[in-house]
Amino acid sequence: MNEKIKGIILAGGTGSRLYPLTNVTNKHLLPVYNKPMVFYPLETLKSLGIKDICIVSGGEHIADFIRLLGSGSEFELKLTYKVQDGPKGIAHALLQAEEFVKKGEKAAVILGDNIFEKVETQPNIFSDDNAYIYLKEVEDPERFGVPKLSDEENVVEILEKPKNPPSKFAVTGLYIYPNDVFDFIKTLKPSQRGELEITDVNNWYIKQGRLKAVFLDGFWSDAGTFESLLKAAIFISGNIKKSIK
Ligand code: G1P
Repeated sequence: MNEKIKGIILAGGTGSRLYPLTNVTNKHLLPVYNKPMVFYPLETLKSLGIKDICIVSGGEHIADFIRLLGSGSEFELKLTYKVQDGPKGIAHALLQAEEFVKKGEKAAVILGDNIFEKVETQPNIFSDDNAYIYLKEVEDPERFGVPKLSDEENVVEILEKPKNPPSKFAVTGLYIYPNDVFDFIKTLKPSQRGELEITDVNNWYIKQGRLKAVFLDGFWSDAGTFESLLKAAIFISGNIKKSIK
């Protein structure tokens, strides 16, 4: 187990893009082929050697996660649960896990609706003072946070859901942060949609010269819309069939 890094799964929000599927159920409990959605980010963190994981969700649904996952011992994980009062954004959800990440530790933060085929670790990623984001080329970047890249492929700025995307890449929902992320979030103001935005956090690290971007190989999708939920399920079912052959 990597002792210097904690995992955080953000599983709140209203899931409004999936109504009526999410009228009574939390999005991250919906099936992606043969497992509840939240199993996939758990597996991604586990694949990075992270076993001490905090799940953040709204008060209406946190008990459902406890019922599904318990202490985590069944999965060889140690799970902690935190409540986010109201859907106030990804950065606000992350702030709820402040006490869970001890001084000197970094946090691997993953959105509960993000399905990754594989994530490779980088040298020093869990010990240096930088933040890391993971980029994936997509056909519809306007749905995501999109990086503006320099000629050397450094990220100079991230735009949240831009009408005219400056590149073909999406900022995926996996972020590695140093401990000062929490103090910075406390200074953030809500965006026009009334949320504390993770893109503001990432842009702060860019301004400090402390943001590193990793280009991902392999499948990645969110699963927060009807189309992407179906795409994720088709990928998982294809993978299972491949492994059976
Ligand atoms: C969030 C982030 C966005 C990121 C995406 C990845 O968007 O705000 O920057 O690209 O997750 O899944 P949301 O799905 O909450 O609209």
